[in-house]
Amino acid sequence: MNHNRLSSRMAEGLNSQITREAHASQIYLSYASWADAQGYKGIANFLFRHAQEERNHMMKFLEYILERGAEVKIEPIPGPGDNPKNVNNCFEKVFEQEVGNTESIYKLVRLSFDEQDWATWNFLQWFVKEQVEEETLALDLLDKIKIAGGPDAKNDALYTLDRDLEKMPDEAKLAQDATTDNP
Ligand code: FEO
Repeated sequence: MNHNRLSSRMAEGLNSQITREAHASQIYLSYASWADAQGYKGIANFLFRHAQEERNHMMKFLEYILERGAEVKIEPIPGPGDNPKNVNNCFEKVFEQEVGNTESIYKLVRLSFDEQDWATWNFLQWFVKEQVEEETLALDLLDKIKIAGGPDAKNDALYTLDRDLEKMPDEAKLAQDATTDNP
């Protein structure tokens, strides 16, 4: 009996997402290394932690494919691209990266809907929510750099921003998750 519960198109899409999340992790690793080399230890630390988060996303897709009896295909990971030009550019690139990933997740959701693969549709809802958090986090970074002066941010503003990011949580707090006890 065939135990594969994913269509070939669905398995292909989920496998590409494994590579995409691994690629995101490489991007964060490269930006983190760049930030560290510029002396921004707090920004680097934040980006290194985020690289690990992307690896966790990758593993979630991988484990789901295995759970559904389909074949996992590990593909080469594309390079991370150029280093950011400055902190402002770094955060802009982070935001673009997250929006691109959201679009990729939405394509998978659409495919699962078209195929009436409700198990995969349900699995993907975690990522739909996660991407709202990831985009919120990226927008927070853009807000912070804008306040610090954008591309013209001065050293003292960048110093404060760097120190703040050291302590910034990895996950954004969403309004819909707020409770009375945990506002
Ligand atoms: Fe895996 Fe930043 O999304």
